[in-house]
Amino acid sequence: MKTLLIAAAALIAPFVTTLANAGDDALLGEARKVATTLPPKLLAVLQEEIKKSGPEGAIPVCRDMAPKMAGEISQQTGWKIKRVSLKPRNEARAIPDAWEQAALEDFDKRAAAGEPPAQLEKGEKVGNEYRYVKALPVQPLCLSCHGPADQLSPAVKAALSQHYPNDRATGYSVGQIRGAISVRKPL
Ligand code: HEC
Repeated sequence: MKTLLIAAAALIAPFVTTLANAGDDALLGEARKVATTLPPKLLAVLQEEIKKSGPEGAIPVCRDMAPKMAGEISQQTGWKIKRVSLKPRNEARAIPDAWEQAALEDFDKRAAAGEPPAQLEKGEKVGNEYRYVKALPVQPLCLSCHGPADQLSPAVKAALSQHYPNDRATGYSVGQIRGAISVRKPL
């Protein structure tokens, strides 16, 4: 009898795991979709605003529009969205929790080992939530506000020190990981 039970369990186990994986794959796809909605929208508005009023004039886009857009996507999808960084600019919003911090540190290691930063992501069930992070690599456009000091205009420096006295988010070069989009949903 015992042997039969063990045999039955051995037969069923692979199906149960496959089902669980299928559920996780669907969640991963959903999380990835939610996380990749924000950056291109933000980038478009940023580019437009920089053209119109220079990088210092575009700072409100990152400060006010990014959380507003994230809020709208959250309402539409049920996923919470935020941006986090190991070197945050906005201390009130962008400090990673332990799970996000571990993922960001892993991304930095993998990027240093040669993995393309734009492909770095991590998704998994954590407690009663599904969590997902996707790396945000530095592009040339980002440098006017996140680059080394000699690439920041005096007006940008002034605006940053006014709004973010403890800013840690400068000194980046293209291809480094600025931070991540982090999304989560209760299961
Ligand atoms: C016009 C200036 C400007 C440009 C250009 C810019 N940023 Fe930012 N970025 C900011 C500001 C200001 C904040 C702080 C936003 C806030 O208060 O939440 C910020 C915050 C962030 C954050 C949230 C984490 C943190 O440190 O607060 C990430 C991630 C980020 N930027 C990535 C990027 C990337 C990637 C690019 C290029 C594609 C970019 N930024 C281009 C000004 C800029």
